[in-house]
Amino acid sequence: MNISEAPPSAVLVVEPMGNAGPFLAAAAARLGLSLHAATHRAVHAAYPPALAGALAGVCLTDLADPPRALDETEAYCRRHRIRAVAACWELFTPLAARLAARLGAPGNDPLLARAARNKADMAAAFRTAGVPAPRGAVVADAGQALRATESGSLGRPLVVKPVEQGGSWGVSVVEDPADLPAAVAAATRFETAEPHGLPLDSRVLLQSYVPGPEYSTETVVADGVAYALPVVAKDTTAGRHRVETGHTCPAELSPELTLAVQHTAARAALAVGVRNGVAHTELKIPPGTGRPVVIETGARLPGDNICELVEAATGIDEAEAYLRAVTGRPPRTRPTRHRAAAIRFLLPEHAGTLAEVAVPEVPGTRSELYLRPGDTVPEPADSSARVGHVAARAATAAQARRLAALAVHGTRLKVT
Ligand SMILES: Nc1ncnc2c1ncn2[C@@H]1O[C@H](COP(=O)(O)OP(=O)(O)OP(=O)(O)O)[C@@H](O)[C@H]1O
Ligand SMILES: [Mg+2]
Repeated sequence: MNISEAPPSAVLVVEPMGNAGPFLAAAAARLGLSLHAATHRAVHAAYPPALAGALAGVCLTDLADPPRALDETEAYCRRHRIRAVAACWELFTPLAARLAARLGAPGNDPLLARAARNKADMAAAFRTAGVPAPRGAVVADAGQALRATESGSLGRPLVVKPVEQGGSWGVSVVEDPADLPAAVAAATRFETAEPHGLPLDSRVLLQSYVPGPEYSTETVVADGVAYALPVVAKDTTAGRHRVETGHTCPAELSPELTLAVQHTAARAALAVGVRNGVAHTELKIPPGTGRPVVIETGARLPGDNICELVEAATGIDEAEAYLRAVTGRPPRTRPTRHRAAAIRFLLPEHAGTLAEVAVPEVPGTRSELYLRPGDTVPEPADSSARVGHVAARAATAAQARRLAALAVHGTRLKVT
């Protein structure tokens, strides 16, 4: 950006229909930015009214055809004098980086951008940059997977995951090598990502298992300078499928470990080419090491209402920080309060039909249901099985966790 120019007054969001979309829309309004969306006609027709109403314009294109989408979004931005691009959907972060480069707008390194979407490229980028990450191997089928694990160098258990996917879909923790073919089949079952029909790399990543508690944190990067955001504790189910059960902010780590998590996450973000944008990074800390290991990063805001948790706990508006970075403004990342917030997801015990769901009123909590009685509930193997959530705000993380747990444990959830 030419420094004599005024900061951009409009931003194009490549598919705002994710969990962070409403937070981006609210932040754009506060910054006085007009918000435009790039999406598909049918996807736009299904936008919630609040999101559709927040848009100054829509670029209807085919995001499943990246060269065409790049040309059409570039033409749209030039027509509307838009000089800022944000991504909201992990699989379109490379497109956002390429579009920003074409427009000369602040964005991420287009040559590295695929590493923020594709876990095989991500593992290579982490290796190049020396970012602590699990050992791994990329395979195409069960035969290759069995051969790759023969030497035992990846250890046990083993994590099997699609190289391109999210929401823990197709991720399994495999204890017994006999279960490997089924895990590979589960990870290769995604040919396209809906609702856009984007073709996916169907290869599979085998990773050594990293023990210990899990955390996530965002890093906002402006002109290549990384700014750390609060650390959030992530809870998942144990066992074969690691389904997120909740998040808590702050993470209640020591100041030293908090810094280590933030520093390692910033290294991961920079390693996958985040230069003007945001990254959501997940890390685990193996017991007794004090050294965080990166599970994955994405060049996008977090999902799971984490933007809301971080704002409630610290006053930091992550969506605004992201928009400031992509419009050439320094991000605001200082906490303005020291409170706590937690979210817990309502998960069924098994697949079936939702017969009943009733969440008790607990002061300090708010609940939201995604499904209604009569709806089909999938097996609780990934985030698609969520029936709803409970969010809690309190003075401390322990209190916020307790309040959310109280509401979840008091919930009547019947699946037949
Ligand atoms: N190598 C690993 N060691 C230990 N646990 C892992 C490993 N890889 C993944 N997991 C567990 O599985 C979860 C999902 O894996 P991952 O984040 O790679 O997939 P994802 O589909 O992108 O997930 P999501 O979108 O839910 O964050 C992780 O949050 C973590 O709990
Ligand atoms: Mg993940």
